[in-house]
Amino acid sequence: MSEIVMMPRQTDAEILSVYDEQAQKIRDDFPILCREVHHKPLVYLDNAATSQKPQVVLDALNDYYVRYNANVHRGIHTLSEEATNAYEDSRVKVARFINAPDPHTLIFVRSTTEAVNLVAQAWGRAHLHKGHEILLSVMEHHSNLVPWQILANQVGAKLRFLDVREDGSLKLEDLSVKLTERTKMVALTHMSNMLGTVNPIKEIAMAAHNVGAMMFVDAAQSVPHMAVDVQALECDFLAFSGHKMCGPTGIGGLWGRRSILESMEPFMGGGSMIGEVHLDYSTWADIPEKFEAGTPNIAHAIVFGVAAEYLSGIGMDHIRAHEEALTLYLIERLQEIDGLTIYGSAPGRGAAVSFNLDDVHPSDLAIILDREGIAIRSGHHCTQPLHRAMNIKYGSSARASLYIYNTIDEVDKLAAGIQKARRFFGT
Ligand SMILES: Cc1ncc(COP(=O)(O)O)c(C=O)c1O
Repeated sequence: MSEIVMMPRQTDAEILSVYDEQAQKIRDDFPILCREVHHKPLVYLDNAATSQKPQVVLDALNDYYVRYNANVHRGIHTLSEEATNAYEDSRVKVARFINAPDPHTLIFVRSTTEAVNLVAQAWGRAHLHKGHEILLSVMEHHSNLVPWQILANQVGAKLRFLDVREDGSLKLEDLSVKLTERTKMVALTHMSNMLGTVNPIKEIAMAAHNVGAMMFVDAAQSVPHMAVDVQALECDFLAFSGHKMCGPTGIGGLWGRRSILESMEPFMGGGSMIGEVHLDYSTWADIPEKFEAGTPNIAHAIVFGVAAEYLSGIGMDHIRAHEEALTLYLIERLQEIDGLTIYGSAPGRGAAVSFNLDDVHPSDLAIILDREGIAIRSGHHCTQPLHRAMNIKYGSSARASLYIYNTIDEVDKLAAGIQKARRFFGT
């Protein structure tokens, strides 16, 4: 009988150091990471706000303007054909990135914010009226709250909210009370930009469908950081932003089920979204054009696909594993600091970690860290109701958020910077 060789289990520290080596290499792809801020090497920990861009993305952007700048879907000349092909190729790449069953179900929008507004107005106004309810959660980003408030006011529908437990997870037991036959839309974040909590979307989508409600997923924080599969999530709509996933600003994706998108009226009218136009009426183009009125953000849409391929090249499972290991380390280092409170501790959390240091205002902390070259976010992170629900002083917090290029050394610098701030403020 052959001898069974037991492989020693890697410790968390060993796993982290393997990912750290990869991150060191990945950093070479991002020219901005070489810069200094206040004569210190930049430590960029504001990735939940926006990510940095690799050279391939910058090159692709330049390439479009230098070689084939032209409008799409409008001309038969060579440049227009090249631009149209690149634009539609990118749609295929971005659709593949979220495992959309059909690229035509991926609409290019300006951002997650625009996607929520599109669905609220183009779907919501046609389907919701007095007596209907929209179920959200207290942890939503304002982008996935305010558009539903506007819709609710327009149609007389009511908003209901899932609460958040102290560990930052959703109170799912409330679903049995808050999700009813009156609920027509459930709109939730996949990953909280403040707490890092990852919500069990599939489970909630199934519950929503059981009462005949739609499931909208705000995936602005999940798509950049983990493998997201719209089919596995069983959702009806999913929105995300290019700039948080190594792509440019001003471009995002809205995925929707084909039958639903086809049944919807347009969000905006104008060129490119029409079938026929008469003086007194018009007909609509098929999806996705029906929802892409006017000249789109061509360059950035093309580069969006390059960013998606760049991330796929690294591997979304690798990205998630690196961030899990580094987030664990970040939390350990933060926990060593006297007077520091971390918000949220839900298992499987993502790489956005919010905290406060005693009575120090988070903006003062961010200013001190900036002098050390360290970029973090301070404020309410567009989650004022969540800060209120958690009774957070000043209604604001500091947030460090990690990405593929962040390292152990950077987390150590953050911890040292906060200790320095502590001494400075005498806490
Ligand atoms: C969870 C979440 N939803 C929505 C948004 C809005 O994204 P954008 O500003 O790109 O529209 C953000 C941005 O921070 C976010 O974190």
